[in-house]
Amino acid sequence: MESGARPNILLGVSGGIAVYKACELVRRLRDAGCEVRVVMTRAATAFITPLTFQALSGQPVRTDLLDAEAESGMDHIALARWADRVVIAPTTADLMARLATGMADDLLTTLCLATEAPLLLAPAMNRLMWAHPATRTNTDILLARGVRMVGPESGSQACGEQGPGRMAEPASIVHALLGPESAPLSGRRVLITAGPTHEPIDPVRFVGNRSSGRMGVALAAAARDAGGEVCLVHGPLALPVPGGIEVVPVETAEAMRMAVLQRIDGQDLFIAAAAVADYRPREVASHKVKKDAPMLTLELIRNPDILAEVAARRPRPFVVGFAAETTDLRTHALAKLARKDLDMIAANDVSAGRGIGQPVNALSVFWPGGERLFPEQPKAELARALVHLITERMEHVGAEPSTP
Ligand code: C5P
Repeated sequence: MESGARPNILLGVSGGIAVYKACELVRRLRDAGCEVRVVMTRAATAFITPLTFQALSGQPVRTDLLDAEAESGMDHIALARWADRVVIAPTTADLMARLATGMADDLLTTLCLATEAPLLLAPAMNRLMWAHPATRTNTDILLARGVRMVGPESGSQACGEQGPGRMAEPASIVHALLGPESAPLSGRRVLITAGPTHEPIDPVRFVGNRSSGRMGVALAAAARDAGGEVCLVHGPLALPVPGGIEVVPVETAEAMRMAVLQRIDGQDLFIAAAAVADYRPREVASHKVKKDAPMLTLELIRNPDILAEVAARRPRPFVVGFAAETTDLRTHALAKLARKDLDMIAANDVSAGRGIGQPVNALSVFWPGGERLFPEQPKAELARALVHLITERMEHVGAEPSTP
């Protein structure tokens, strides 16, 4: 493996209900820039088809040792050599036993004998199977041989019991496999704005917009998973914020600005994903406005631009803005990148009800001298891809010699 290159990962999948988490694992490893090849045991194919892993990994999936057609491509010895790391998730009690005794009775166990790559196991089984003396002995043998294990975790099990045996979460497996490489925001502080703002007209009415806050919340989760210490300043949200994120709920643009400015010092990254209301009513009525008049004129004044204010500070964090456009996406986004002096801008087309308030989105991302297009996908995946790109750019900018 060249220095700086992401390792080739051979993912073994054995037959347990936790296989569904292995799908997420493939995605995360690919998001981290790894090439992933999947080998399934016969039992694993009873839970999920190879086609699922083929689609997720973008590579053919191997299941049989004695498959003449597959062996004519990358044969099992070449596959064992190709792998920089081997991870088996989930690892069943049966597979642990076969690995401990050095059996090579299927493709996966054969590869484990034929590779020099380090082996990481993510065991998943019923709590009594995990506690059984046979599994304890097999665990000791494997650990003594230098095999590493992540999990199992304690909690409710698919069989309805409580106790140790749940497979470790994909994020923990990625961390165990790639170490700090998987946590590019480790030790970094990240401040994110999300959601709409509500600008009061009177005690019951407000001026607002259709933002759900989904993208900002997904970005906060992705930044947390990348090891960041994340604070989310958000307007009224249509969804809950996951754990491990400091939350600061606000209602108006002015309150969002105050919350951001109070926390901005010492931040490494600022992502402005909020759909901040551009204007607010000049006067806020202290009582509910009566509908006596046939016509009502609402006078609006401009709200402060939080993003531009953060970008103008020195020193400042790496600053990422969003742009929701209905026409000439690229032109407007590039103009905003320059005008607000941003490090990066993520632009989405919100014409015809796209993007805002929706579970999926597509983004065109621009930075000085570069751009990347992310096709339509669920916002959680989009957020992971965007955080990955941001960390790449942060490294790049950080590495550049500062010009006088
Ligand atoms: O200028 P425009 O509103 O299109 O810019 C959008 C970007 O600016 C978003 O990142 C948004 O969060 C941020 N913004 C802000 N404060 C405002 C208006 C927009 O931080 N008052």
